[in-house]
Amino acid sequence: MTRSVKSLVAEGDVNETVSILGGTGNLGFGLAVRLGAAGYRVCLGSRDVERARRAAAQADELVEHGTFVGCLNSEAVTQADRLVIAAVPFASHVATLRSVAEHWRAGQVLLDTTVPLATAVGGRPTHLVEPWHGSAAQQARSAIDDRIGLVAGLHTISAAALRDLSRPLDQDTLICGDRRGKELVAAALERIDGLRVVDAGSLEMSRLLEGLTPVLIGINIRNKTHAGIQVTHLGTRPAQQAALA
Ligand SMILES: NC(=O)c1ccc[n+]([C@@H]2O[C@H](COP(=O)([O-])OP(=O)(O)OC[C@H]3O[C@@H](n4cnc5c(N)ncnc54)[C@H](OP(=O)(O)O)[C@@H]3O)[C@@H](O)[C@H]2O)c1
Repeated sequence: MTRSVKSLVAEGDVNETVSILGGTGNLGFGLAVRLGAAGYRVCLGSRDVERARRAAAQADELVEHGTFVGCLNSEAVTQADRLVIAAVPFASHVATLRSVAEHWRAGQVLLDTTVPLATAVGGRPTHLVEPWHGSAAQQARSAIDDRIGLVAGLHTISAAALRDLSRPLDQDTLICGDRRGKELVAAALERIDGLRVVDAGSLEMSRLLEGLTPVLIGINIRNKTHAGIQVTHLGTRPAQQAALA
């Protein structure tokens, strides 16, 4: 991670389990296959255990040597060693977090990807609604125990780009939240081929980071693509490092 707390991070143990709430969905499934390809055991959570198992079996077919399990969202929190990723629509965000509230352990970290798109209230994907707390991630803070670390990120990473395992992502993700949580998230996400993590500050910045998504959705609609972002002049990107090696 840039600006740089990365030196404090112990290398992630690739035998560890990362869990995804909504692992059956577009973003959740794309993250599952990328993290599985990076060596994590991935637990795909769902409201429906059969749907979760089907998604895990599908991920198994895509990723040679990957380890995927499907389970209920609550069980996914229990199974996670340290990192749980929320990848559910804004309309079901708080309900999903409340449904797993009893299952957290102190020391775990939630990476929240939620964007409060206006589609949740029948509006456009290029518009946002403003949650009372300021952002979806700040809303999440009010729905989980204070002992759980909270980081917001991945708002500009498209599910389609994640799902296409034939290409490195070649883009950055801006993350914000508490320091220890950001260290853990950066260690995990930077195992994904071509993804660089950029520290964008404390959780209050999540309002602005979530606002990047409708901008990109508009760009994608106009250009018929799945664009991402790169921040310049921060040092060498992972793909360049590989090319120089
Ligand atoms: N898609 C992207 O490219 C992208 C990029 C950046 C950020 N995001 C953010 O990631 C989140 C997920 O987006 P997505 O496109 O992956 O969503 P999605 O595919 O529509 O839904 C993800 C999963 O959430 C669960 N879900 C759906 N409706 C629900 C409801 N009413 N109540 C409880 N659970 C429900 C479903 O899992 P089960 O039915 O199996 O429980 C579904 O598979 C959103 O907050 C979005 O803003 C998405």
